[in-house]
Amino acid sequence: MEYLDACDAGACLRAADLLSWGKNVVVPSETVYGLAGLARSDLGVAGIFKAKKRPSDNPLIVHVLGKNMAQELAHIEGLAERLMDHFWPGPLTILLPKKEGAALSSLVTAGLPQLALRAPSHPIFRELIAMTGPLAAPSANPSGAPSPTRPEHILANPPSGVDALLAAGPCACGLESTVVGIEHGHIIIHRPGMITSEALSAHAPTTILRDREQSASPGLRHRHYAPKANLILNQPKPVEGQFHIAFGPSAHADFQLSASGDLAEAAQRLFHGLMEADRMGAKMASVAPIPNEGLGIAINERLQRAAAGGIIDVES
Ligand code: TXA
Ligand code: MG
Repeated sequence: MEYLDACDAGACLRAADLLSWGKNVVVPSETVYGLAGLARSDLGVAGIFKAKKRPSDNPLIVHVLGKNMAQELAHIEGLAERLMDHFWPGPLTILLPKKEGAALSSLVTAGLPQLALRAPSHPIFRELIAMTGPLAAPSANPSGAPSPTRPEHILANPPSGVDALLAAGPCACGLESTVVGIEHGHIIIHRPGMITSEALSAHAPTTILRDREQSASPGLRHRHYAPKANLILNQPKPVEGQFHIAFGPSAHADFQLSASGDLAEAAQRLFHGLMEADRMGAKMASVAPIPNEGLGIAINERLQRAAAGGIIDVES
């Protein structure tokens, strides 16, 4: 895997070249690192599924510069346009009816009628899209593992068959975008994320989809974000033999999400904390309770799915 430092002159151009040839490059975004491929290329998109070992029924988000590029690919109206105007560029992914004849590999949507679109705000990602056109990119972790938020996470666990890593330091948000659908003037949150339901509900009635089996987002039905360590949730204090991830003041934590109890800081450090547990070789990791409000809803959703299977929850 070629290492490209985004600060170096020519790094972006090199990454854009590789992508234009149908190759795959790990790219920085404001949420998490993504594994990008040219959205219009079967070769570029198939390479993503292969490198991530991602089930082919799990579609990919297509990244665009903004509304104009989105309009080439999907039908946008009313509420969707207002959400784009307000939240783009940024961590909001919108499911929209795909346009007939759009220049997209059919693999991107995994046979679904809707296309997931997002305009990222990360300047390097935007520079790339400006050179290549729309880029498909899931988070750059192997399927099921925590999402990488720093170049060293990729280097510790590189997806196979990826041609380059375009490194640009830690991601500012650290948690993935919110994925929303629009139904009869309502916003349906398929995946909670950086944009909270409170922020969305200023624009239309908003519902968080609780039942994953009903979700149009196939990615939500799989176990995900899991570190190798067994994860215990809602553990208020460090316990002997566990790698403890604290939230709020703690004297003996192995990792601190946010000493001041700030949810945005905790979101930014969440996946890093899970990966630190593995890097330290922990068999068991525990996480302090996180308030289930605002950004805490997305954090808890990730933690619950990371713990699913081997879940031990000391409060329930
Ligand atoms: O912040 C993010 O969203 C990051 C960065 C790289 O943009 N990307 C990301 O992609 O998290 P991924 O593939 O890890 O998660 C995308 C989610 C999955 O749950 C997937 O099933 C859903 O969005 N999704 C993608 N396309 C869809 C579609 N056409 N219909 C329904 N759900 C879709
Ligand atoms: Mg992902």
